[in-house]
Amino acid sequence: MVTNSDQKPTVAILGCGYVGLTTAAILANCGYKVYALEPLADRLSIIQSGKSFFYEAGIDALITEGLKREALVVTDSYESAVREADIIFCCMGTPDNPDGSSNLTYVFDAVRRIAPLIKPSAIFVQKSTVPVGTGDEIRSAFKAADVDVAYVSNPEFLREGTAILDTLWADRIVVGSDDSEAAAAVLDVYRDIEASQKAVAQTAGLSQPNHSATTRYMAMGQNAAELVKVSANAFLALKISFANSIAKLADETQADITEVMDAVGADKRIGRAFLNAGRGYGGGCFPKDVSGLIRSAESYGVKLDIMHAVETLNDSMPDYIIDKVAATTSIEHKKIAVLGLAFKSGTSDTRRSPAIAIANALVSRGADVIAYDPQALHEAKSDLEPAITLATSLEQAVKEAELLFVATDWPEFTQLDFQSLAKLSTARLVVDCMNCLDPATVRASGFDYIGVGRS
Ligand code: UGA
Repeated sequence: MVTNSDQKPTVAILGCGYVGLTTAAILANCGYKVYALEPLADRLSIIQSGKSFFYEAGIDALITEGLKREALVVTDSYESAVREADIIFCCMGTPDNPDGSSNLTYVFDAVRRIAPLIKPSAIFVQKSTVPVGTGDEIRSAFKAADVDVAYVSNPEFLREGTAILDTLWADRIVVGSDDSEAAAAVLDVYRDIEASQKAVAQTAGLSQPNHSATTRYMAMGQNAAELVKVSANAFLALKISFANSIAKLADETQADITEVMDAVGADKRIGRAFLNAGRGYGGGCFPKDVSGLIRSAESYGVKLDIMHAVETLNDSMPDYIIDKVAATTSIEHKKIAVLGLAFKSGTSDTRRSPAIAIANALVSRGADVIAYDPQALHEAKSDLEPAITLATSLEQAVKEAELLFVATDWPEFTQLDFQSLAKLSTARLVVDCMNCLDPATVRASGFDYIGVGRS
C-alpha cells in the first residue's frame, strides 16, 4: 500500500528502460513521490496509460497503482522531473559503439540538461552501467556548469524477467562515493524498499522468492563501485562460456554437461548458477558489458585476453549447435520451427538474442524457418531474416515442421507435453539449444534429442 510520507526524499528517475521503470514503479509503491522522465513519446504514452512497453512480470500492476495514488508522475519534461527532486537516479541507456566501447551520449546529455534545473542539495545517483572513471567525468561536467552536486555510483544488478523480485530481495546494494552522507541517504532508500518488499510483491501479484536472505549494504569508493558492476557481469559471462567450452569437450567424450556442472557447482566456492551450457548469452547487458570492459581496460593500458576468449566462445555457440545437427541430418530445404526468440524466458527483449542468431543462421544454410515466441514476436521482427515466417501459436509453428529447435527456455516449451506434440507435428528431432528439456521425456515421446554437451 502506498503511504506517501513527507519525510521521504522526492525522487527523480531519468530514463524509463528496464532499470528506470522498475525502480520508479517500486519506489512509487514504497511511499516515495517519484518523477520519472521518459523522452520517447510512444513509450511515454504507454507508461502514462498504466503499462510497461516491455513484458516484465508484475510491473504493470505497480505502475497502475503508482499512477492511481499520484505517487508516480511520468513526464517528458526534464524540468518537471528534477526541479523538486532530492535524489536523482540516472538510468539512461548506455548502448555500445561500433567498436564495442560504451556510448555515454544519453547520460551526458541528461547531465547537461538537468544541471541548470536541479536543487543545490540534490544527490545524483548513477545507476546506468558505465565504464570505470565515468563518475569523475560526470562530476567534472557538473562542475563546469557551476553545479555542486553530490555524486553516488549505485550499480544495478536486477535481471530482466525477475526485475521486481530482484529489486525487492536484492543480494547486495552497492554505493560508491566520497560523500558519505549522500551515500547513506541512497542506502536509506534501499532499506525502505527492503522494508516494503512483501507489500510491494503482493501489489505486483508476485510470490516471495525461495531465497530470501537479507540484503547486504556495501559502501565503497566511487571507482570500486563502478568496477563492481562490469566485473560481476563479466564474471557471469565467463562462467557461461566456461560451461560451454566444457560442453564441447563433453560432446566429444560422451559425458553429460549437466551432470558435470551439477557436481562442479556443488562446490560452494564455485556455485551452480550460470554454469548452464547452451546457445550462449545474449541480451542488452552481457554482450555490451563484456566488450565495454575490454575497451575500457584497453584505455587504461590493461589487456583482458580472458574476456576476448569469452566473447569468441559465446559467438561460436549458435553455429556449433547447427553444425552438430547438420552432422546427423541435412538442414538444407528442411522446414524448421524455431521455438523462442527472446534472449531468455520471462522477457520480450530480443537484443543480441542467440535464438535469433540461430534462426537467421538456419536460413543462411537453406532451411525454411518458421519462428514462434510467446512474448517477443514484435520485438524480434526487425532482426530476423525476411524469409522467416512468424507463427502466432506453437501449434502453427510445429505443424508442418521437420525439425524443432527449442531456442528459448519459456515454460510453454519446457513444460510441453511431448506425447501430444508428437501427434501435432511431423517432426521427429528436437534440438534443445538451452538444455532446458529432459532428454528422457523427449525420447520417450518418440523424438530424437540433441542438446549441447549432452551426447
Ligand atoms: C544480467 C545480470 O544477470 C544482472 O545481474 C544485471 O543487472 C543485468 O545483466 C544488467 O547488467 O542490467 P540479464 O541480462 O537480465 O541480467 O539476464 P541474465 O539472467 O543474466 O542472462 C543473460 C544471458 O545469459 C541470457 O541469454 C541467458 O540465457 C544466458 N545464460 C544465463 C546462460 O546461457 N547460461 C546460464 O547458466 C545463465
